[in-house]
Amino acid sequence: MKIVVIGGSGLIGTKLVKNLRQQGHDVVAASRSLGVDTLTGKGLAEAMTGAQVVVDVANSPSWEDKAVLEFFETSSRNLLVAEAAAGVGHHVALSVVGTDRLLASGYFRAKMAQENLIKASPVPYTIVRATQFFEFVGGIAQSATDGQTVRLPPALFQPIASDDVAAALVQVVVAAPLNGTVELAGPERLALDKLVGRFLSATRDPREVVTDVHARYFGLELNDQSLTPGDSPRIGPTRFEDWLSRS
Ligand SMILES: NC(=O)c1ccc[n+]([C@@H]2O[C@H](COP(=O)([O-])OP(=O)(O)OC[C@H]3O[C@@H](n4cnc5c(N)ncnc54)[C@H](OP(=O)(O)O)[C@@H]3O)[C@@H](O)[C@H]2O)c1
Repeated sequence: MKIVVIGGSGLIGTKLVKNLRQQGHDVVAASRSLGVDTLTGKGLAEAMTGAQVVVDVANSPSWEDKAVLEFFETSSRNLLVAEAAAGVGHHVALSVVGTDRLLASGYFRAKMAQENLIKASPVPYTIVRATQFFEFVGGIAQSATDGQTVRLPPALFQPIASDDVAAALVQVVVAAPLNGTVELAGPERLALDKLVGRFLSATRDPREVVTDVHARYFGLELNDQSLTPGDSPRIGPTRFEDWLSRS
C-alpha cells in the first residue's frame, strides 16, 4: 500500500515509517522538515497522490491554548480535504485516552476538536487513543517541577512504550477502517507520583516527588479514571521497568 505518515519525523512517526517500510509498503514520511506543512498545505497534494492510507501522528509545536487548537483544527481540516480530493480510503489518527474527560485543558480541547473533525469528514477513519508514552514521563516530571520538588497526584494511569504504540498502529493501518475509536495502553496500572519518582531515581535525578491529591497534571485535577482506559484496550507488552533498564 502507499501510506503517508504525517509527523513522520517525530517520536512515533519515525518508528511507524520504519515498521511499515520493513513490511514492504510504499511509505511517504511527511513533516515540515521533510517538505510537507499541514498548516500551509505545502506539499500535501503531491504527498497524497495515489495513497490508500494517511496516518496523522503530528503534534503541535506549541501547547499554548490558542496555538494548539489552531494547530489541530487547521492541520486536520487541510489533511481531510486533501485526502477526500485524492480518494484516500483510510485516515488514522493518534489521540489520547480520556480526551473527552480532560477538556479543562486546552491541549485536550484541541485533540477533541481534531477527533470531531475526523468523525464529521467523509473519509473513513480509525482513531487510536493511546495512554501516556514512557518517553513522556520526563516531560510529566518537568511540568510538575517547582525548584527541586515535583508535586504530583497518586492518580492511576497505564502508560505505554512508544515502540508498542508504533507496532499497534501498523496493525490498524493495514486493517479496514473501523469508523470508530480504539484504545491502546501499557500492561500495568501505576500511580503517577510513584512512577515519576521511580523514573527520577533511575535517572539519578535529584528532584524529589511530593504526593499531593490536588496537584495538577498539566492544569488538570485527576482521579483514577481520568487517564485510564475502558474495559477492552489493546495492550502493549512492554513493562515500565523493562523499558527503563533498556533505555
Ligand atoms: N506524548 C504522549 O504521551 C502521547 C500520548 C498519547 C497520544 N499522543 C499523541 O501522539 C501524537 C504524536 O506524538 P509524538 O510525541 O510522536 O510527536 P513529536 O515527536 O513531537 O512529533 C511531532 C511531529 O509533527 C510534525 N509537525 C509539526 N508541525 C507540523 C506541520 N505544520 N506540518 C507537518 N508536520 C508537522 C513534526 O515534524 P516537523 O517539526 O519537521 O514539522 C514531527 O514529525 C500526538 O498527536 C499526540 O497527541 C501523545
